[in-house]
Amino acid sequence: MIEGREFQAYQAFLGTSREVWGRSLFRALRMRADRTGASTPEDIEAALTGDAIYGAFDWFERNLQDWKLNGPHGIFPAIAADTARWCEWLDRPLPDGLLSLSSDLALPDYFTRHDIHHMPGGLWESPLAGLVYRQSAGQAGGVVSKPGLHERFAALALRGGDERMVDLGCGFGKSTIPFARANDKLSIIGVDLSAPCLRVAAQDAADRGLSNVRYVQADAAKPLPALTGADISTSTMLLHELPPYAVHGLLRTAFDVLKPGGLTIHLDFLPPDDAFVRFIHFGHGRRNNEPFMEPLANLDLRRICAEIGFVDVRIDDFDETDPPAADRSAAWRLPWAVLRARKPD
Ligand SMILES: C[S@@+](CC[C@H](N)C(=O)[O-])C[C@H]1O[C@@H](n2cnc3c(N)ncnc32)[C@H](O)[C@@H]1O
Repeated sequence: MIEGREFQAYQAFLGTSREVWGRSLFRALRMRADRTGASTPEDIEAALTGDAIYGAFDWFERNLQDWKLNGPHGIFPAIAADTARWCEWLDRPLPDGLLSLSSDLALPDYFTRHDIHHMPGGLWESPLAGLVYRQSAGQAGGVVSKPGLHERFAALALRGGDERMVDLGCGFGKSTIPFARANDKLSIIGVDLSAPCLRVAAQDAADRGLSNVRYVQADAAKPLPALTGADISTSTMLLHELPPYAVHGLLRTAFDVLKPGGLTIHLDFLPPDDAFVRFIHFGHGRRNNEPFMEPLANLDLRRICAEIGFVDVRIDDFDETDPPAADRSAAWRLPWAVLRARKPD
């Protein structure tokens, strides 16, 4: 999508640096943490404060992400350099009903207060934000660029006979498209707060000739009374971006949009009860400007789902690679997990 040898070389260098960070530096940090004998994330953090390996791990994680987006050949300046061409692409006429934007939608404070993932202006301020996010998610070494991840999640979620689905926090459509392609009888509504992301999603769906998808700008943590009657409500990598009050709201919406007997299924990051994994994960949230990783991990999602009225609530690990890594603890990874539950018949 972005051409130019300098851009490619710079991004490849960062991708390779990230591999060194995620393997060698990660293993060295793990040894340091083991030697502390600490048994909680807070105690590991305290014991490693001032440690050179931890300092380097922290510095590389934060800066590799920042440079990827904002460095001299970062994604944001590369796309901004071609603003006119991209705006022309985004402004192409779309089929009726494919995209519904709400220019007067009140964006929640948590969404505008910090630059998530080091995206300048977050996912809302720049009209180019959706394109930047799409490029970043596909870039080598990115945490969510695992081949086939969204497709395998769609295969896990889909049941024979599903007719209607709502994808909450659909972004630029990466989580929506695999469902649309897996079942062309399924009518899907993708919902997101970010107009820049939705505009990319709609242009992409038009380019692919998909007629079973439409996109709506709305706050999925608030009631969506126009979107009821779904067989499946889903989200991918949304829950960890929400403060606790909005997680409650989102799961309530996920319940309300379903038909009786419908399935809600969410792919996200839920660390197990392992002090080192939680220490790394909570630090990742801070370093990557994702402040709600830790609050999500501390919520009792089973209880929240049960209080809303869901039954058969389950949380399972999810293998982000196929085949799964032989040793999940050998390199840095996100604690992928699937939350699923059913609305009673
Ligand atoms: C990490 S992205 C995931 C996007 C997509 N599901 C994917 O898998 O690529 C999270 C998305 O949730 C959206 N989002 C955050 N809060 C939201 C809310 N309250 N309602 C709807 N979308 C929201 C963000 O704009 C962003 O596009």
